[in-house]
Amino acid sequence: EIQSHVTLLDNTYLKDDFSNVTDKIISHLGRNIYTKEHHPLSHVRQRMVNYFYKRFVNRRGNPFFSVYDSLSPIVSLDQNFDSLLTPKDHPSRSKTDCYYLNRDYLLRAHMTAHQSELMRAGLNNFIMVGDVYRRDEIDRTHYPVFHQLDAVRLKTREELFPRDDTLQIFEVGNNTQSTGTQQKQACHTLEAVKLMEHELKTTLAGLAKQLFGEKIEYRWIDTYFPFTQPSWELEVFHENNWLELLGCGIMRQPILTNAGIVDRIGWAFGIGLERVAMCLYKIPDIRLFWSQDTGFLNQFKVKCDENVTYKSVSQFPQCVNDLSFWLPQDKEFASNDFYDLARNIGGDIIEQVVLVDEFTHPKTGKTSHCYRIIYRHMERTLIQSEVNIIHKEIAKVAASALGVQIR
Ligand code: PHE
Repeated sequence: EIQSHVTLLDNTYLKDDFSNVTDKIISHLGRNIYTKEHHPLSHVRQRMVNYFYKRFVNRRGNPFFSVYDSLSPIVSLDQNFDSLLTPKDHPSRSKTDCYYLNRDYLLRAHMTAHQSELMRAGLNNFIMVGDVYRRDEIDRTHYPVFHQLDAVRLKTREELFPRDDTLQIFEVGNNTQSTGTQQKQACHTLEAVKLMEHELKTTLAGLAKQLFGEKIEYRWIDTYFPFTQPSWELEVFHENNWLELLGCGIMRQPILTNAGIVDRIGWAFGIGLERVAMCLYKIPDIRLFWSQDTGFLNQFKVKCDENVTYKSVSQFPQCVNDLSFWLPQDKEFASNDFYDLARNIGGDIIEQVVLVDEFTHPKTGKTSHCYRIIYRHMERTLIQSEVNIIHKEIAKVAASALGVQIR
């Protein structure tokens, strides 16, 4: 029987043609693992927050930044997209990328969703931490629920240029219509942008050093976000790989203006907690963060800035099963729909789902996909017969819910 509504954190949402949030995803709301004492994600959060508390202090030695870590993960489209100037046709709004409750509400896809409301509340230096939700592939580094820490810093002309009243932050004519260049927005003066860029980059390079050590190698990559211009990614060199650590930039001025702020320029960034924790503690699989097993959790009963290397309790064997089916011809099929369905039925014993083969029959024009589902329990050995039951159920539900034809 299909339910007409979904109840989340004590509120009821009417379902419509946009609803795609599964029970499995809903079960993560309110777990708040990032605030639990001694959880590795909590250690990483604490280390980042402490860095900001120390780096930005007022004349009395008190921190400038305030931390918001219990903002509701259920947000409106306005919070997640419109208030951040995300175009109506931007791919990040897609049903295959986000978890929608219905056409009006979704599970936030980034912590940036709360930027506008907190600026409107009058804050100038703030940090937002919480769980974010994205539909994606399934492997050892991706999980549909993960965590981000975002920060915003707004400065007035006087704060930016305390010793010179001839320098300005806005160009005369304050042209908000024209979009400017990769280097800067048309409304900003070059000197204001350069000074903000300098503070942003030294702050974030300092954060990378605080997390990975003074000697960490890093580089800046020019990028695009709908809500910042210019925009950069910070990459760090870790174990022979360039790792994307965070996104940042100079906030687009209309976001501030729409929040009622006319005399400040701002920088912002967002960083994921899981990737940092996986590197710092050598945690091999992102599902482990959700483990309730004391064999995992007890290893982190240390102070937040202590070094720990995770020792895997033991690696249990994988069970590998393939599933092939013809895609429906009368409706759309998205791999992400299949990933969510598999996860909803199999839960966390699914380690990976990989599309291993894809072909279109030359005569019938029908397309076939073959997915390899790799099952592995974190805390015990799975037996093939129990995996078979789950695997069969996935096939059955895929046929009825997605309209595929099992081969
Ligand atoms: N929200 C962006 C992301 O999720 C990160 C970001 C935050 C980038 C703030 C710029 C400014 O990737």
